Amino acid sequence: MSQETAPRSRKVTTEALRRMKAKGKKIACLTAYDALMAELCDRAGIDVLLVGDSVGTVVQGLDTTVSVTMDQMAYHCLVVARAVRRAMIVVDLPFLSFQVSEEEALRNAGRLMKESQAEAVKLEGGKPFLKVVRRLDESGIPVMGHLGLTPQSIHRFGTYKVRGTDPEERRRILEDARALEEAGVFALVLEKVPADLGREITEALEIPTIGIGAGPHCDGQILVTHDMLGLFTRFHPRFVRRYAELAHLMEEAFRHYVRDVREGEFPNLDESYP
Ligand code: KIV
Repeated sequence: MSQETAPRSRKVTTEALRRMKAKGKKIACLTAYDALMAELCDRAGIDVLLVGDSVGTVVQGLDTTVSVTMDQMAYHCLVVARAVRRAMIVVDLPFLSFQVSEEEALRNAGRLMKESQAEAVKLEGGKPFLKVVRRLDESGIPVMGHLGLTPQSIHRFGTYKVRGTDPEERRRILEDARALEEAGVFALVLEKVPADLGREITEALEIPTIGIGAGPHCDGQILVTHDMLGLFTRFHPRFVRRYAELAHLMEEAFRHYVRDVREGEFPNLDESYP
């Protein structure tokens, strides 16, 4: 059966994620930016594929996610959506696509749903964006929240250190989490916060929490796929478990190919047409 005619009931939905939390079944999420990687993740049983603005750092070679554009997110989301049958597709609203006004946020999120087949959007930040969350949710656009380390604000914070370690920031993150749930987010990413704060928020909310460097008590986990594959190796945060070392394997394969070409070992006659 082609992707276009695959029954929608097979898809992971916001309701399915809520049921998973209620049953204590952990939610497995990864990022994807292209069709091949998305298809492999989907076949492996990943529940949520995030088309993250981390595309800026792991694919485009940027130092931060700040310059990633709406056009780029729309493109990557569409190619991911094309390849996926089961996983829910969530796409990041990039920096400045939702902060200017509710109208602009709705137009941008709506574009990602209509043109790029996203099934939900994610936005970074707490209380300042409650109206945006409500507006999107009321318009039929599911919103995933994102608190703790919020990489789009890196120039404001100046550092990628763990968030919520001092009591004041911890209280603010907890309040933001409650306010976002109240405003209608269907799930909440918690990035780089202490494990006991991850637990406290997870227990306080009915919606699922998805941790990245937020400890084992969250309802689900997400990693950047290029990090967990050992493909992106510029830095290695403590929370990244590498399930493969693909950068080494690939570089070795490229070296081998260069050697074979130089030495006339590739192609051989079996790899040539008579
Ligand atoms: O952009 C991204 O990949 C993310 C994850 C780190 C959660 O926001």
